[in-house]
Amino acid sequence: MRTLSDHWDKIFTRTAENKLGWYENDFSQTLKFLALIPAWKNATVFIPGVGTSGLIDILAKSDTRLILNDLSREAIEKAKKKYGDNNIQWLCQDISRALPAQLEKADIWLDRAVLHFLVDDGHVEQYFKNVDTLVKPGGHAIFAEFSKKGATKCAGLDVRRYGANDLKQHLPAFELLAEEEYTYTNPGGDPRPYIYTLFKRKIT
Ligand SMILES: C[S@@+](CC[C@H](N)C(=O)[O-])C[C@H]1O[C@@H](n2cnc3c(N)ncnc32)[C@H](O)[C@@H]1O
Repeated sequence: MRTLSDHWDKIFTRTAENKLGWYENDFSQTLKFLALIPAWKNATVFIPGVGTSGLIDILAKSDTRLILNDLSREAIEKAKKKYGDNNIQWLCQDISRALPAQLEKADIWLDRAVLHFLVDDGHVEQYFKNVDTLVKPGGHAIFAEFSKKGATKCAGLDVRRYGANDLKQHLPAFELLAEEEYTYTNPGGDPRPYIYTLFKRKIT
């Protein structure tokens, strides 16, 4: 039976980087949200589905400590080859399952275009449990997902679309600091409306 990781492996094997439907070479929107977090350049950053994003290169050149996860072994191997793996901790697991208990806690959870692929309520619930266990008190979480006006499918899969309030309901231990609608144009020239949000974990 073909698994979800097979699905993603196949995409990363067969598709040129700059033809991936979510490919970007301008990271200014994500960097703008990161810049709202004091001292982000010295933070431990966890990315739940990093793919082969060029953001790895930018973050690896700062003083961030990176914990990079992806379900696709193929994506991880490609990313390692492209950006090296100096000071990077790699993880290959389904983010809708519990993260290893011994994993280092993170200052920042940074999700672009991963959460919206979880369409099962139980998977979404476990995803947010992971956010809760991994992000330190006072830490931050950025979610950049398809907005309510966004696509209903991506990479051949159904997606869930989000508004800031939907995310807020899953994050009672966090406060919403910023939200912004942002339309990304994909390599095929199609507009993809996203919602960018920044949350901060309460100290108590
Ligand atoms: C649309 S891509 C986004 C990649 C990257 N965040 C970016 O912005 O370029 C989604 C990524 O999430 C990974 N992914 C999908 N479902 C996942 C899951 N359940 N657990 C972990 N990674 C997953 C895919 O392999 C893929 O690399």
